[in-house]
Amino acid sequence: MSETFDVAVIGAGPGGYVAAIRCAQLGLNTVCIDEWKNPKGKASLGGTCLNVGCIPSKALLESSENYFQIQHKVSAHGITAENVSVDVPVMIARKDKIVTMFTTGIASLFKKNKVKSMHGRGTLLKQDASANTWQIRVDDNGTADTIQAKHVIVATGSVPRPLPFAEVDNVMILDNAGALALTEVPKRLGVIGAGVIGLEMGSVWRRLGAEVTILEAMPGFLMAADEQIAKEAKSIFAKETGLQINTGVNIKSVKVTGDTVTVGYSDSNNQEQILEVDKLIVAIGRIPNTAGLGVQENGLQVDERGFVVVDQYCRTNLANVYAVGDVVRGPMLAHKASEEGVAVAEMIQHVEKGQTDELETVDFNTVPWVIYTAPEIAWVGKNEQELRAAGIAYKAGQFPFIANGRARAMGETSGFIKVLADEKTDRVLGVHMIGPHVSELISEAVMAMKFSASSEDIACIVHAHPSLSEVFHEAALGVDKRALHI
Ligand code: FAD
Ligand code: NAI
Repeated sequence: MSETFDVAVIGAGPGGYVAAIRCAQLGLNTVCIDEWKNPKGKASLGGTCLNVGCIPSKALLESSENYFQIQHKVSAHGITAENVSVDVPVMIARKDKIVTMFTTGIASLFKKNKVKSMHGRGTLLKQDASANTWQIRVDDNGTADTIQAKHVIVATGSVPRPLPFAEVDNVMILDNAGALALTEVPKRLGVIGAGVIGLEMGSVWRRLGAEVTILEAMPGFLMAADEQIAKEAKSIFAKETGLQINTGVNIKSVKVTGDTVTVGYSDSNNQEQILEVDKLIVAIGRIPNTAGLGVQENGLQVDERGFVVVDQYCRTNLANVYAVGDVVRGPMLAHKASEEGVAVAEMIQHVEKGQTDELETVDFNTVPWVIYTAPEIAWVGKNEQELRAAGIAYKAGQFPFIANGRARAMGETSGFIKVLADEKTDRVLGVHMIGPHVSELISEAVMAMKFSASSEDIACIVHAHPSLSEVFHEAALGVDKRALHI
């Protein structure tokens, strides 16, 4: 007799593992099924985020930034450092150790919360109508097991979008996993796609000495960001970080010959160009992952791009089947996946108690975005072009880091913070940041928006001096044209 659970979660990324823990906390008998294996062939929980995404990329960004600071910035403090070198395998081993710490940490969290962990691919078989449960087959390298669960949470994440004529081998042509595992600094690195991965991975290897050329199809740069922030970022990246970013290109061919990758493309003036590099990263977006899940067999509805179709509560078209994270619409971000996981877990508990009037949704308008370049970029809410397009009248306040004491002391003066507030009500509609540690500063803006704060509310809050947070305070004061230090 196969085991029966209240909830089966398929996928143990930040959407799935968080959903499983929350379900268990709420007293639901929960299993989490995940097929990820690390390069040593061992099961490794945490999905893309922990294995080849958020955590390893931030580890390498930190290491490479330290190296860059010693090479280029500490001399201004009167510190001399000679014969500075980087041991890339040590840097990669440090990153791998951090990944292992966190992935094994999830196994411990599962144990602590009594979530049963099963390794293998989960496939929805069918709903046993009489028993009101779903059957799920778990295949682990040819060994199959079948379990039953009343509720199923699909959290199968996403995979890199392939570029048909540039097959990833993770030796010469790399996806995010390969870009995080290079054991030496390539002299010439090409990146296709100036999105979040392209900029973060390009930054890592640029700081370590690679000549980095990024080829972007769109005519603009960072189109999802506020236009003014994107413009500032492009100019800083070109001047200070040396990332060569070519927008408006059309990639036509990618060929590997010996140790060289040759990219043929037409530039924004329609001129044919050739780029020769030692390694090429392809980072042109990610697509939902439903391979082997049993989508067609069960009639699980997916849209034309392959995303599992869900309503605002993450319910699919199948009874008691929910989907969260990268495999559904909305931003492909770990914290969005986790929030959806928690919301679904709580909804299942409400459904079990017959309290269907207490359902929660995740508000995408208060989901922050962060790009961990130097300087960092972060935003929440609406940007200026979105407000203009929606015909919403707004006021803007802006303050630069160069006028902030802490930023000066740190020697990190690039960038600014901009607060956008409704012209009539003064309610904060969006906050946009480029500058040092804005990945941390954005949380105050998220909180302000979550609590429906006005710019005046932020202006009334005492901010520590000297601190980078004063830039946010001054930008809020600026909405009412009363910034003090400019
Ligand atoms: P995933 O993390 O992709 O997890 C899905 C899991 O399901 C995987 O383990 C997969 O093996 C498993 N699975 C799939 N199908 C099955 C099946 N049928 N049976 C069993 N298991 C299955 N986001 C941020 O918010 N901040 C960042 O700094 C950030 N940095 C990133 C850097 C990189 C290089 C990349 C690639 C992504 C980054 N992201 C970041 C995005 C973030 O990783 C994703 O948004 C997040 O991992 C999505 O979580 P998820 O749970 O939906 O899916
Ligand atoms: P992306 O969507 O951020 O960027 C892809 C870029 O590639 C776009 O600018 C697009 O115009 C361009 N592109 C598409 N096709 C192209 C082509 N044929 N030639 C040239 N350029 C082309 O996707 P990316 O960088 O792959 O990252 C995927 C997702 O992972 C992100 O959207 C984000 O949700 C998540 N992520 C989040 C991070 C964070 O929160 N800091 C870090 C890294 C990834």
